[in-house]
Amino acid sequence: MDFSNLIADRMLEVKASAVREIFKVASQPGVITLAGGNPAPESFPAEEIKEAAMAILTQQPSVALQYNLSEGYPRLREQLANRMEKKFGIDMSKNELIVVSGSQQGADLTTKALVNEGDGVICEEPSFIGCLNTFRTYKAKLYGVRMNDDGMDMEMLEETLKNNKNIKLIYTIPTFQNPSGKTTSLAVRKKMLELAVKYNVIIYEDNPYGELRFSGEEVPTIKSMDTTGHVIYAGSFSKVFSPGLRLAYLVFDKGIMEKIVVGKQATDVHTNVFSQMIASYYLEHYDLDAQIEKIRLLYKHRGEWMLTCMDKYFPKAASWTRPEGGIFIWVTLPEGIDTQKLLSEAIEKKVAFVPGVAFMTDINQPTSALRLNFSTMPDDKIEEGIRILGELLAEKLG
Ligand SMILES: Cc1ncc(COP(=O)(O)O)c(C=O)c1O
Repeated sequence: MDFSNLIADRMLEVKASAVREIFKVASQPGVITLAGGNPAPESFPAEEIKEAAMAILTQQPSVALQYNLSEGYPRLREQLANRMEKKFGIDMSKNELIVVSGSQQGADLTTKALVNEGDGVICEEPSFIGCLNTFRTYKAKLYGVRMNDDGMDMEMLEETLKNNKNIKLIYTIPTFQNPSGKTTSLAVRKKMLELAVKYNVIIYEDNPYGELRFSGEEVPTIKSMDTTGHVIYAGSFSKVFSPGLRLAYLVFDKGIMEKIVVGKQATDVHTNVFSQMIASYYLEHYDLDAQIEKIRLLYKHRGEWMLTCMDKYFPKAASWTRPEGGIFIWVTLPEGIDTQKLLSEAIEKKVAFVPGVAFMTDINQPTSALRLNFSTMPDDKIEEGIRILGELLAEKLG
């Protein structure tokens, strides 16, 4: 049956995520996938989660299996609020923290609460496809702002804010950005906040990778500098614990709380309480920072190894970022190279990456960039994948 006449207008602009489509090919046996954004499965604390699950189901089955509060499991909210204050310097007397079902849902609820059809959302160019698609489903107008090496171009941001009165949100991933791996400098963070206050728009600070630094200096979150409530901060358990548990949290000014919580009630009532209790038990009985340290060391090794292989195998005409954390490297090729076509050729040779166009606010805009991921493949596969891609690039670039 063809149901296309029944599809809602809000979905017309939204295409299946290119990354998910590539996954289908990339998950075939024998393909070296540098395409995904998954954490390394060997980093999951499975034994500890098993123990937590047993203890919770033995001691508190009627809480774990019952409905709970939309704002989140109270003990977990408390633990996370303490962590925000201690580790991130966020003043929790002025802010609220709620638990959400992944930071993807955090972006969805924020957009639902703030963005009318036709309202503007400013995004880094390139940006995370999942949230770009969230904004599209609410029929927001997307404004891409170029990413420099130190973050969004502030002149272009101000021009965009000045010229478009419909803007409600600035969407930023300031640390180890997906897809570029770049980190926004302190000066740019301060300027972005100043502009958000001046033009009275909200910054959605999406920070799933922030704790995965393996070199360089920490940069404070934008939220920690926010004294006026213009920043909504999203943290996630996905990249430091387990994405399958679907746990993340939003930290925001008390004034925004009510509408986001009502929106959540209308979406899923509350986040899986059993998952929340597992995270809470883990925070109580184990050491999340030690778990994060193990992941950092693994990604430091894999990230640096991938860069070493790229230095060896990639032609000089290509350039790429050298991230200080996170899981992605962004490769820029000379103009005119179609990385979507390059992907088909790479897949024939059993290597997958994500072409840059997937991360653009305008998916028809040609881009000669691509994203590589280094979190999941072992050393030998990273080397083989990069060698094959290097050969393919050398054929194209001469
Ligand atoms: C920048 C960014 N935001 C949000 C998400 C979604 O994460 P979660 O699993 O918390 O929904 C991802 C996942 O890859 C991401 O890269």
